Amino acid sequence: MLPKSALIWQLCVVYFLAMFAIVARAESPYRFFTWNVTYGDIYPLGVRQQGILINGQFPGPDIYSVTNDNLIINVHNSLPEPFLISWNGVQQRRNSYEDGVYGTTCPIPPGKNFTYILQVKDQIGSYFYFPSVGFQKAAGGFGGIRILSRPLIPVPFPEPAGDFTVLIGDWYKANHNKLKSVLDRGHRLPSPDGILINGHGSNGASFTVEQGKTYRFRISNVGLQHSLNFRIQGHKMKLVEVEGTHTIQTTYSSLDVHVGQSYSVLVTMDQPPQDFYIAVSTRFTNKVLTSTGTLHYSNSAHPVSGPVPGGPTTQIDWSLNQARSIRTNLTASGPRPNPQGSYHYGLINISRTIKLESSAGQVNGKQRYAVNM
Ligand SMILES: *[C@@H]1O[C@H](CO)[C@@H](O)[C@H](O)[C@H]1NC(C)=O
Ligand SMILES: *[C@@H]1O[C@H](CO)[C@@H](O)[C@H](O)[C@H]1NC(C)=O
Ligand SMILES: *[C@@H]1O[C@H](CO)[C@@H](O)[C@H](O)[C@H]1NC(C)=O
Ligand SMILES: *[C@@H]1O[C@H](CO)[C@@H](O)[C@H](O)[C@H]1NC(C)=O
Repeated sequence: MLPKSALIWQLCVVYFLAMFAIVARAESPYRFFTWNVTYGDIYPLGVRQQGILINGQFPGPDIYSVTNDNLIINVHNSLPEPFLISWNGVQQRRNSYEDGVYGTTCPIPPGKNFTYILQVKDQIGSYFYFPSVGFQKAAGGFGGIRILSRPLIPVPFPEPAGDFTVLIGDWYKANHNKLKSVLDRGHRLPSPDGILINGHGSNGASFTVEQGKTYRFRISNVGLQHSLNFRIQGHKMKLVEVEGTHTIQTTYSSLDVHVGQSYSVLVTMDQPPQDFYIAVSTRFTNKVLTSTGTLHYSNSAHPVSGPVPGGPTTQIDWSLNQARSIRTNLTASGPRPNPQGSYHYGLINISRTIKLESSAGQVNGKQRYAVNM
C-alpha cells in the first residue's frame, strides 16, 4: 500500500532530514551501506522462483556492527511495488518512525530510495532484518544483523574461532503475491514446501570448521509461520546469547527457535574428523518437514553418514520447559532490562498481569494473524 498522497512521502523525507541532524551529533562510528533491492531468479527448492535480492544476494548481506555504531543504510527500491524493511530487534531511540512497520514508517515507493539511520545504542547481540509489507518476507529480502561488544567490554566466553549466521525458515514454492492472495481470500496458509538454511534447501548449506575449535552460530528463524527445532549431529550447543542478552550458559542437544527469534550457541568441534548433519525440522505440525545442512570438518575423512538426528515434533511441554530454562546472566556484560531498578525480580510485587496470545481470524473476509484478536 502506498501513502495516500505524495505529500505524506515528502513529509517523511523532511522528518528524516531533521532526525539526521540530531543523530549526526553523536560521536560513534558511522557504517554506510548502499543496497539495491531487485527481483531475481532463485532456486532454493530446485525450481525457479522470483526472489527478492539485496545487492544480488539471497539472503541479503549481513550487517556487522559494534555497540553504539550509527548505521546509514541507503535502500534503493528497484521492485515494481513498495518495499519496507523492519530492523527486528534494533532498538528505536526517542521515537519509532524508522521501525519499519507500516503505519510508523512509509514504505519506499517503487523506483525510489530512502536512507535508514539507526544507532545500535547500548546494544549487543544477534538479530535480523526482513521486509514487512506485501508478504514480501515470503520472497527473501532478509539478512542477519550482528552487534559486537565494544573492544574493552568483557564478553562472558572466549572469542570463538568463527562466527556463523544461520537463517532458518519455512519456505513456499509459491510467489509471495500468490500467498498473499490466499490470505486475502480468507484461507489459511498451506503447509510449506520446505525449510531453508541460509537460502538453501536440504543438503545445500555447509559450514566449514576446524577440529578442536569452538564456533559461534547465530540462529534466527526468518520464516513465516512454523517453529523450528535446530540440532547438530553428535554435537552439543551451549546457549550464550538470546537477542542481545547474555544467558546463563546451559548446554542443549537441540533448540526450538520460534518465528522471529535469534539465539547464539557455541559449538566445540570435539568429534572425529568427518562431516555431520545439521538438522532443522518443523515443530507442532502433523507432517514434519526436515531439512539438513552440513557441518564440515576441514580435515574430514568421511561425508555425512548415519541417520539424520531426530528432534521433538509435537511435544509442547518440551518446548515450554526449554524456554523456561533460558535465563539472563545478570553478572555478564550487556544491556540491562531495567537500568534504574532492582535486579531482585522476586521481590517486585506484581500489580498487573497481561496475557499475550497469538491468534488467527478473519477481518473483512481476509485471513489475518494477530495478538489477542
Ligand atoms: C539496481 O539493479 C538494477 C538491476 O541490476 C539496475 O538496473 C539498477 O540500475 C540498480 N539501481 C541502483 C540504484 O544501483
Ligand atoms: C537517494 O540516493 C542518492 C544517491 O545514492 C542519495 O544521494 C540520496 O541522499 C538518497 N535519498 C534518500 C532520501 O535517501
Ligand atoms: C555469567 O557471566 C559471568 C561474567 O562473565 C561468568 O563469569 C559466569 O560464568 C556466567 N555464569 C553462567 C552461569 O553462565
Ligand atoms: C510488596 O508488597 C508487600 C506487602 O504489601 C510489601 O510489604 C512490600 O514492601 C512490597 N514490595 C515492594 C518491592 O514494593
